[in-house]
Amino acid sequence: MIDDQDTGRALPERGVPAERVLREIRGLREGDRPTHGGRLFAYVYDPAVPGLDELAAAAHAGSAHVNGLDPTAFPSLLAMENALVGAAARLLGGGPGTTAPDVVGSVTSGGTESLILAVKAARDARPDVAEPRIAVPVTAHAAFAKAAHYLRVALDPVPVDPDTLRPSAADVAAAIRPDTVLVVCSAPSYAHGVIDPVADIAAVAEAAGVRCHVDACFGGWTLPWLRRLGAPVPPFDFAVDGVTSISVDLHKYAYAPKGVSVLLHREPGLRAPQYFAYADWPGYTMINPVIASTRSGGPIAAAYATLRHLGEDGYLRLAGSTRDAVAGLADAVRGVDGLRLMAEPESTVVCFTSVDPGLDLFVLVDELTVRGWHTQPQLTYGELPASVHLTVTASVAPRVAEFGPDLADAVAAARAAGPVELPPELTALAATLTPDALTPELVAGLAAGLGLGGPASGGPVAGGPADGGPVSGGPASGGLADGGAGAGGAVPDRTATVNALLNAAPPALRERLLVEFVGLLQRPTY
Ligand SMILES: Cc1ncc(COP(=O)(O)O)c(C=O)c1O
Repeated sequence: MIDDQDTGRALPERGVPAERVLREIRGLREGDRPTHGGRLFAYVYDPAVPGLDELAAAAHAGSAHVNGLDPTAFPSLLAMENALVGAAARLLGGGPGTTAPDVVGSVTSGGTESLILAVKAARDARPDVAEPRIAVPVTAHAAFAKAAHYLRVALDPVPVDPDTLRPSAADVAAAIRPDTVLVVCSAPSYAHGVIDPVADIAAVAEAAGVRCHVDACFGGWTLPWLRRLGAPVPPFDFAVDGVTSISVDLHKYAYAPKGVSVLLHREPGLRAPQYFAYADWPGYTMINPVIASTRSGGPIAAAYATLRHLGEDGYLRLAGSTRDAVAGLADAVRGVDGLRLMAEPESTVVCFTSVDPGLDLFVLVDELTVRGWHTQPQLTYGELPASVHLTVTASVAPRVAEFGPDLADAVAAARAAGPVELPPELTALAATLTPDALTPELVAGLAAGLGLGGPASGGPVAGGPADGGPVSGGPASGGLADGGAGAGGAVPDRTATVNALLNAAPPALRERLLVEFVGLLQRPTY
């Protein structure tokens, strides 16, 4: 793949012809998971619509150098942002003729940024509260924990029922304290695809005079279409009294390229504390609605092009294919003895666990990878067992018939291989070690023992666990957990052992181990 000593150095002594640079990037990309083809169940959202990639790429290129820093200098960007916010608002129960006619919003770089800003707006709206807190169901996305950490806001976790995987409004009410500035719910949760009881939770938040954010980053662009197709989707948007803000990611089920989410507020006063403004220096007055200051117009233009090209009829059609794919995958899971759906699918997630001690989910994930299916393992959490997560997109529909037989095959192979058996001393170590006791030597020893090396010398690491993984979503990190072989040779093909070890460790140790492992991969190449 890498055909020259010099390849992989970002700054060669002499410039390299464009064609060759593109060839090199294509070569590096060969080590990545397949972003198209309907066999990757995390990280990417593929509608498999011919010509859409080309359209989005052209729109992206045409606005890539436009700067969102100043909307008056680049009115094209302002116009496209306002149109995206309007489309999202209308889809989610806001805009003219609704009970939320004054909805406003901002385009952010992704779900995490939208959630951080929802927390910032709630925090800064309450300068009277010295130590602000947010009440967050344990199934809500990890980005709320990140927001709490970045913004120095305390996070009060709300338990979920281990059967329904939902928080109760009563538990949310119990978590609300005088210093609570925001209550959160998901529509649906990422891990299991379950929609929280939004109306009940918003009601207790409203009664307490607290903002309520609905994280519809994942489902905000599917649930409305699924409802139009007849699915029994409960109220979750601005039609619900007490919902003050909603996030929806366009780079998920709106099928736009990465880098676009929308954060909506019921009215402008709720959004005002989200802005950062600064005039107390000799340069330009900075007025930022979002975290970034300079922002590329590329993702916004690409999202605008994607929405306009697909249109409502396109999204309805894609939601129909996705719904059928979800039903087919869920049937395949139901057809295997020893597997159990974590929840009946109510959105676009299929999530299952093993009820057979002889069937190790992490081994199954590896066996599925060998058969070309890239799934996402989720580690044990409290009373919730380890599980396998499938984010289902429209591109999966034509592949569904192949999944059932491959799943049955993979299950048979996983049973034959038997569960991962960690050396007892390693299991004991994982269960008892505290993050502080982790020395660089211990981490390096563990990494070597598990087959996780540093980057291969001479070449950049592509496709390693750092890609889209641990920090952002997957419990065990994207690459580490889902069996990816890094192009740099740093990650083993089979990762059941790594996942078994992480699964035996408490969350704080998992975090620390993964930070260290990923840190080993993220080293400069010279
Ligand atoms: C419900 C939910 N919220 C937030 C996020 C974070 O989004 P991003 O990865 O775009 O930052 C995700 C990502 O999967 C999600 O599913």
